[in-house]
Amino acid sequence: MKLPFCDGGKDYSDFPDVHVLQEVVTAADGLILATPEYHGSVSGVIKNALDLMGFTELSGKVTGLISVLGGQPNSNALNEMRLIMRWVHAWVIPEQIAIGQAWRAFDEDGKLIDEKLAERLDEFAQSLVKNTQRLRQG
Ligand SMILES: Cc1cc2nc3c(=O)[nH]c(=O)nc-3n(C[C@H](O)[C@H](O)[C@H](O)COP(=O)(O)O)c2cc1C
Repeated sequence: MKLPFCDGGKDYSDFPDVHVLQEVVTAADGLILATPEYHGSVSGVIKNALDLMGFTELSGKVTGLISVLGGQPNSNALNEMRLIMRWVHAWVIPEQIAIGQAWRAFDEDGKLIDEKLAERLDEFAQSLVKNTQRLRQG
């Protein structure tokens, strides 16, 4: 998507992808947010994309978080995303995934090499679906 820098305004008519992003997220049952860890935090790209939305799109949305890192896995970017999503009243599931040393974490088919991590990813996905169904029924 071609997204502009968020300037705090409301008129992004020169960038139709802003509307597409907002519509797609509004229509979603649940969200997975994934970011590379940059300087111990989220990437500017995902922060900007989230800044282009607000309560209308994100409030009440069940969300799962994934980070990928060049170094060892940690929770820095995940914690930052959790804070951002709490701020817009989303429901972030407790399960989360940090994929360390991303440059060697995947095989040629794009599958995770570490079986335990792959299992955790399955559990993460199951929790996201289960909790999305629960909250939407309520
Ligand atoms: C500006 C910048 C900052 C980064 N900061 C971190 C960091 O704090 N910790 C880390 O483990 N990796 C860091 N990395 C490595 C990225 O997390 C890594 O490249 C990314 O997760 C893998 O995606 P890629 O294969 O598309 O580069 C940084 C990379 C860039 C470009």
